[in-house]
Amino acid sequence: ASLVTVLFHLGEMATATQSLDEDTFEALGVELGYKIQIVSPEDEDKELLEDFGLDLDAELEAETDEELEPRAPIVTVMGHVDHGKTRLLDAIRHADVISGEAGGITQHIGAYQVHHEHDGVTRAITFIDTPGHEAFTAMRARGAQVTDIAILVVAADDGVMPQTIEALNHAQAANVPIVVAVNKVDKEGANPDKIRQQLTEYNLVAEEWGGDTMFVDVSALKGQGIDELLQAVLLTADAGLDLRANPNKDARGVAVEAHLDKGRGAVATVLVNSGTLRVGDAIVAGTAHGRVRAMFDEHDNLVTEATPARPVLVIGLTSVPGAGDSFIVAEDDRTARQIAEKRAAAERAAQLAKRRKRISLEDFNKA
Ligand code: GTP
Ligand code: MG
Repeated sequence: ASLVTVLFHLGEMATATQSLDEDTFEALGVELGYKIQIVSPEDEDKELLEDFGLDLDAELEAETDEELEPRAPIVTVMGHVDHGKTRLLDAIRHADVISGEAGGITQHIGAYQVHHEHDGVTRAITFIDTPGHEAFTAMRARGAQVTDIAILVVAADDGVMPQTIEALNHAQAANVPIVVAVNKVDKEGANPDKIRQQLTEYNLVAEEWGGDTMFVDVSALKGQGIDELLQAVLLTADAGLDLRANPNKDARGVAVEAHLDKGRGAVATVLVNSGTLRVGDAIVAGTAHGRVRAMFDEHDNLVTEATPARPVLVIGLTSVPGAGDSFIVAEDDRTARQIAEKRAAAERAAQLAKRRKRISLEDFNKA
C-alpha cells in the first residue's frame, strides 16, 4: 500500500508531497513497524558525549556527600533599561574587600568574583558581568543554568517597568531566587516603599512586610548599600541553596563570554561548575576545542587552576565558542578535537534539516 493509503487509515488525509508533523510521523512509524524517534539537540549532544564515555548527568548523580565542597554563589544582575545595572556592577566591583582600594578589578572578563566580609568571615560571590536578561535567557536556552541568584535592579524614581517584569518572570521560571536592589535612592522623589508595594503583585514580598524576599535600598552612584546587598545575597544563598560542587575531577562548566583577541587569539571567560580546570587541560567548548595555554583572573593575574564558581579567562582555544556553550575537559587533545568536530557536523546537519523544515512523503518514499 502507498504511504498515502496507510495515512488514510490512520485518519490522516495527505497528498504525496505533504509534510507531516511529529505526531503523525510517529504514528506512521508504528503502523509500518519502524520505531521513529524524534531527538532534541540536547539529547543528541548527550549521546554524542556518551560515545566518548562521558555521561555528565550520571557523573553528577554518582557524587557522594563527602566529595562535595562549598562554592561561591553565582549572581546575575537584571532589570529595566537605565535602572542602573551597569553602575551597580561597577559599584560591586569596587566593594571587593580583597583587591583593596588601590586595586579594584582591572580586567573586564565577563564574570568576576568579589569578596564580602561579615562578622570576620570573608566569602566569595561570583558575578556574571553581562547585565540584562538576554545573556541569562541565551544561556538558559542552551540548557546552561549558570545563575544561582538574580539581583533585580529597580530604580526608585521610576518604578516597576516592562523589563522589570520580564526579568523577574525569567528568574521565577528558572526557579532562581531574587534579591531586589532598590536603586537610585539618593535621587529626589525616590520612593523605595512604592517599589516594595508594586512588587507584591509579582509574589515578591519584602521580608520586613512578612514575605521572604530581601529588598535592599542602594545607590549605585554613591556606593551606598552595597555591603548590605552582598550580605543579602549570601543570606539568600544560605537560606535554601545547596551550593556545593566536587572540585576533584575534570572540569565541567560554561563559557559565559568569548571573543577574538588580536594578540591572544580566541579568549573565553569560563565558569567552572564542577571539577578543577588546569593549565594544560584539553578542552571542548561548544564546537571550539584546544588546550588551556594560560588562564587569568579578573585582576589580570596568571592562575594555574580554577575551582567551581571561579571565573577565569582561558587562552588556547582554536576558535571562539558561543556565550552559554558548555565546556568540558576531555581525556586528551585528540578526543577534544573529535568531540568538537562531531558537534560541528551535528550542527551543520541540524541547520540543513531546519532549512528543509519537514520531510515530505516523497522524501520518505524515496528513502
Ligand atoms: P542599560 O544598560 O541601558 O539597560 O542601563 P543600566 O541599567 O545599565 O543603567 P546604567 O547603570 O547605565 O545607569 C543609567 C543611568 O542612571 C546613568 O546615567 C547612571 O549614572 C544613573 N544611575 C545609576 N545608578 C544611579 C544611582 O544610584 N543614583 C543616581 N542618581 N543615578 C544613578
Ligand atoms: Mg548597562
